[in-house]
Amino acid sequence: MTISHRTFAAAALISAALVSVASGQQTAKVAPETIAAYVKNTWKAPAEGWQARVDQDQTQRICSETRNSPGKGDFEKILAREVASVAYPADGKVLGDWKAGEAVAQIGTGGQFSDKADGPRGGNCYACHQMAAKELSFGTLGPSLLEYGKIRKYAAADAKAAYAKIYNAQSVLPCSNMPRFGHNKFLTEQQIKDVTAYLFDPESPVNKP
Ligand code: HEC
Repeated sequence: MTISHRTFAAAALISAALVSVASGQQTAKVAPETIAAYVKNTWKAPAEGWQARVDQDQTQRICSETRNSPGKGDFEKILAREVASVAYPADGKVLGDWKAGEAVAQIGTGGQFSDKADGPRGGNCYACHQMAAKELSFGTLGPSLLEYGKIRKYAAADAKAAYAKIYNAQSVLPCSNMPRFGHNKFLTEQQIKDVTAYLFDPESPVNKP
């Protein structure tokens, strides 16, 4: 089930990418209001709390308008805003339990209209990243994270940076394709700690290829 979901998610991402490649050279001029009205109309009766997910925030609007290539000024503005949004754990510990983190990386459900509100919810990291060598089903939209902690000698500063990246990918790279898991309150603080441990615990299969 996880695999078919992941394949589906990856296919959707790829088709989105192809559309932007195909139309990249001759950008159609469509008024932003027309696009906003179209998107709104595709969700005629959104479930409670869903309207906010359809509305773009300032950062997403700039990324859409600049086709993910913000100029220097916008780039700096996004960076400042997104960096400020990163909430680090109050206890200062960014590493949780790598075993729980493996589940966070694998689970591709949660937050879709067909998912139960109290069902399993994960980061679907494998849809875009290679992580543990033993897992053969992974997407390649993002870089391989194989031996991520080991390569960085398990440095505390790098673990903290990875936590921030997972919390809000745009705090590191404006208009990143990676979801903002903590910023959007999609994953809990504990889940982000756990998946950071999946990358940084020496015992994690990510670091034992
Ligand atoms: C929709 C695809 C997608 C998903 C899902 C995704 N990522 Fe990413 N990730 C990317 C892309 C693309 C990059 C490279 C560009 C960037 O840095 O934003 C990236 C970069 C990263 C980096 C930085 C890598 C480096 O070069 O140092 C880390 C760490 C990371 N992702 C972790 C995760 C974790 C953990 C999850 C799951 C909770 C996850 N990602 C889910 C697309 C994704």
